[in-house]
Amino acid sequence: MKLGTALTPLATKALLLGSGELGKELVISLQRFGVEVIAVDRYPNAPAHAVAHRSYVIDMTDGEALKSLIAQERPHFIIPEIEALATDALAEIEAQGNCTVVPNARAIQLTMNREGIRTLAAETLSIPTSPYAFAESFEELKTAVENGIGYPCFVKPTMSSSGKGQSMVKTADELQAAWEYAKNSGRVDTGKVIVEGKIDFDFEITLLTVRALNSDGEVVTHFCEPIGHIQENGDYRESWQPQKMTEQAVANSQQIAKKITDAMGGLGLFGVELFICGDEVWFSEVSPRPHDTGMVTLLTQVQTEFDLHARAILGLPINTQLKIAGASAVILSPIEAKGVIYQGLEQALSVPHTDVRLFGKPEAFVNRRMGVALAIANSADTARKNAVQAANLVVITTS
Ligand SMILES: Nc1ncnc2c1ncn2[C@@H]1O[C@H](COP(=O)(O)OP(=O)(O)OP(=O)(O)O)[C@@H](O)[C@H]1O
Ligand SMILES: [Mg+2]
Repeated sequence: MKLGTALTPLATKALLLGSGELGKELVISLQRFGVEVIAVDRYPNAPAHAVAHRSYVIDMTDGEALKSLIAQERPHFIIPEIEALATDALAEIEAQGNCTVVPNARAIQLTMNREGIRTLAAETLSIPTSPYAFAESFEELKTAVENGIGYPCFVKPTMSSSGKGQSMVKTADELQAAWEYAKNSGRVDTGKVIVEGKIDFDFEITLLTVRALNSDGEVVTHFCEPIGHIQENGDYRESWQPQKMTEQAVANSQQIAKKITDAMGGLGLFGVELFICGDEVWFSEVSPRPHDTGMVTLLTQVQTEFDLHARAILGLPINTQLKIAGASAVILSPIEAKGVIYQGLEQALSVPHTDVRLFGKPEAFVNRRMGVALAIANSADTARKNAVQAANLVVITTS
């Protein structure tokens, strides 16, 4: 692997599609190897824009806009940070053979639509998942639930993330509202929803899985220690590492993660979301990129999930070793306002072994993630308490 010098004609260039808080950390990891990074988002002054060499604001679901930017910048790597992209355009660019879409265009296409990834996992690879069905009308949905999926179940748009359009349905009289909500709140109206039977799990994890080259140039799969997390209204609130689980559950999780990431291919880090009950493991979904619950690795690992992604993409050796137990807790905005003020950092950072990252988002909405509190400790439980305490001490106001 040869690396050039940023901002010179021989620069190694990476184009980041999506410039949120995860992208921001990835930019920093890439820049540590002197990579020239161009950060793109749909709005100006997004978190990763602040640390990139250049930034652009375009509609990334517009294939022509994406292709013309790529033709102008000629990056070596195109690194998606979000799902809502013109994935057909990425497939076209990949086919031209001048750059690498990370991990590859097919993985990006498969994971942007729940139907693609679920069908691959459950039907092609025979990986255990919740029972599920797809429905294109309310009648189809009702039949699927009554003839097998049962209650409680989850109804989700096939194209959505962060819990948008998703609801848990406990009884038959709630089904119509769930259908309407899923139909109207998806990112794109695919005309289809997925309904999933509820899995009664003990806990859920993200298994960060990395496909990276070894010194012989072969692809090897590495796993981080499992990250436990709590989700509320479709977004994560707390994550911690390591999550204690049985040896068998770890083995099953790694086997599932290996299978699904092998099937996606390419190089990079993947966030494999799994439900765990005793020794039993179900696959939920996978992100072919750093995962929000993995922000805990900013303090817990020798190489953060962003370092791991950057190194794997560049073909460099990686190390998934855990340094110490830790936790993260999100800092959500209670208000809608532009240019908010943060207070209480002195108190938050006085909680033992904590750190805070504020993402610098120009605009706050109610429940928008504006920062994260991180903690390390001798146990994940202590770290969780401290991370939550620190997060709660950060106050977001307008003056
Ligand atoms: N079939 C299920 N059984 C039990 N819990 C579920 C099921 N489906 C979803 N959940 C719960 O809802 C959360 C969000 O679901 P999912 O990951 O499918 O949504 P999402 O919109 O893709 O979220 P994100 O983009 O934040 O990962 C899960 O992490 C889990 O807590
Ligand atoms: Mg999820």
